[in-house]
Amino acid sequence: MADRTMPRTEPIRLEKIKEKLQARLIGETILYFSEAASTNDLAKEMAATGAKEGTVIIAETQTSGKGRLGREWASPKGGIWFSTILRPKLMPNNIPKLTLMTSLAVAKTISQLFNLKTEVKWPNDVLINAKKVCGILTEANTRGNITNFVVVGIGINANIELYSLSKQLGANATSLKHELKREIDRERFLRVLLEKMEHYYITLTERKFKPILREWKSLCSLLGSYVEVISWKEKIIGLATDVNEKGALIIKLRNGTLRKVLSGNVSLKRSKGLRHQKQ
Ligand code: BTN
Repeated sequence: MADRTMPRTEPIRLEKIKEKLQARLIGETILYFSEAASTNDLAKEMAATGAKEGTVIIAETQTSGKGRLGREWASPKGGIWFSTILRPKLMPNNIPKLTLMTSLAVAKTISQLFNLKTEVKWPNDVLINAKKVCGILTEANTRGNITNFVVVGIGINANIELYSLSKQLGANATSLKHELKREIDRERFLRVLLEKMEHYYITLTERKFKPILREWKSLCSLLGSYVEVISWKEKIIGLATDVNEKGALIIKLRNGTLRKVLSGNVSLKRSKGLRHQKQ
């Protein structure tokens, strides 16, 4: 029987994140809101009016949390909902790399702090036991070949009861509390995560995406499986063979042709189009 009592989680305390934070860029400025419509929307407004790179915006709850593809993102108290403003010197077609490096940072934070096996799912999810514990929404402001800023929004189902997540995610979602059977220290989690994000971000901006991609692939169970991808209203079915140096998923179609997909929604097919396992 689900425990339907209110979460015990105390509000996030910024001093607890900042006191031991090793990162110098990401999290140098952290803003906290007990409630926001969407931290991504706030971050975009702040970035457009000159907020510094590395600014982190955290909200205890979001009233209009946004997921990918226009979906709603349930953001009750107890989760970790935040956005980071980045100003990378990257061409717009390299922006998917930021989503991959962020999912890697989240997966590594979970496996470092807890004895839980994590997976990354292209393009933006982190899974525990094949269920989604984190989603990432990357939004960019670009002009031609120039990236003005990027907002990376991260939603982690931390101290959350599963019943409070949207029906949409339903059985495909999990939370750290559900997996661990206890609440986590969200400030410590955020501190470790911001440090990892900074590490991977610096590596990426030094044009060293290869080691990040290698690590990411080692946590990606999708490669080598038959998948169905919905991308721009097109359905692509085939073997997920690789993720390339731009962060695109490479699908081998039944006729042997290779297709590159830069964004979309993937679900696993158990075997050549027979049984369909939704993720
Ligand atoms: C997805 O998996 O569809 C992406 C979910 C991203 C949710 C986060 S929570 C913080 C930030 N603010 C938002 O409105 N969305 C992102």
